[in-house]
Amino acid sequence: MTEAALNAQLEELRRATLAGFASAVSLEELESTRVEALGRKGTLAQISKNLAKLLPEERARLGKLLNAVKQDLEQEYASKQRRFEQAALAERLSREWIDVSLPAPGLRPGSLHPVTQVQQEIEDLFTSLGFAVLEGPEVETEEHNFDALNIPPTHPARDMQDTFWLANGHLLRTHTSPVQVRGMRKFGPPLRLIAPGRTFRNEEVDASHEHTFYQLEGMMVDRDVSVANLIYFMRTLLASVFKREVMLRLRPGYFPFVEPGFELDIRCLICDGSGCAVCKQSGWVELLPCGLVHPNVLRMSDIDPDEWGGFAFGLGLTRLAMMRYGIDDIRLLQSGDLRFLTQF
Ligand code: FA5
Repeated sequence: MTEAALNAQLEELRRATLAGFASAVSLEELESTRVEALGRKGTLAQISKNLAKLLPEERARLGKLLNAVKQDLEQEYASKQRRFEQAALAERLSREWIDVSLPAPGLRPGSLHPVTQVQQEIEDLFTSLGFAVLEGPEVETEEHNFDALNIPPTHPARDMQDTFWLANGHLLRTHTSPVQVRGMRKFGPPLRLIAPGRTFRNEEVDASHEHTFYQLEGMMVDRDVSVANLIYFMRTLLASVFKREVMLRLRPGYFPFVEPGFELDIRCLICDGSGCAVCKQSGWVELLPCGLVHPNVLRMSDIDPDEWGGFAFGLGLTRLAMMRYGIDDIRLLQSGDLRFLTQF
């Protein structure tokens, strides 16, 4: 075969292969065109076999051309291959795109329980009025929960607060009132405290009664404390929680640790007084028992009742949260049901 013929073959190989690369629509097509031209048994290899039969100067010229064609084709192949790979990557990225600035699932911030929200608001209010916030133990001694509050063992008031007793004679506190005793004994008069917390009773559970619920105790001991002071603080408290006037009703109420004692009821905010399961069809909800601290209670905590007096109240915090948010069944609050809780 002559130099001219081989030359023509090489030029044809270059043209045809470049055209093949240009029209390839996939990496596979590109690769098979490359193998056909540059592979071990490809066209270029066939041509180079013929080189041996040429004169040395012819061989040198043709060898140069052959290398140039080979280099051109390899370059073109590499660049087209890169383009295919980039396109494939771009396509995959667009398919698998994620927004890394989105918050990770499962890290959705939670929210405070409705009872906690109301509790914190009341704590803020009373702190601004000079009250300290105290905590007492949930497992109490009988003395703190009953005796020091003027409820001796034989007193019928104990029956109204049936609770869970421990083998060692302690009990789950039935109200937050034992924190009054702890506060008086720790700080002495004058004294302003509130004490929110969990309380327990052996109770028949219904729409307005739980065995575990929250109360918020309040107490002020000072000179010349009267019922007028008590009513002032109760009105301030309710106006702050409900952010509107609520209708109040003050009835005489009996608690051994206050004298006089009152039941402060509010007009039911679930039914607006027309009667529902929460207010037991009465239109009123019992919310805030209160009164002036009984002299015996002061005496049992080493405070002289001739010199000091005080008021105390025991807010039903769980029920207050129900009124505030229009919750018509107390059992929802401890259900742990996120469909309920995420509404607040
Ligand atoms: C007491 O517990 C007294 N310690 C309150 C008190 C304090 C009176 C200071 C005077 C001075 P009572 O048993 O009524 O009182 O409960 C107080 C409030 O807790 C009730 O008005 C009610 O709102 C709430 N409460 C009582 N039992 C339950 C219950 N089972 N479930 C939910 N809330 C309850």
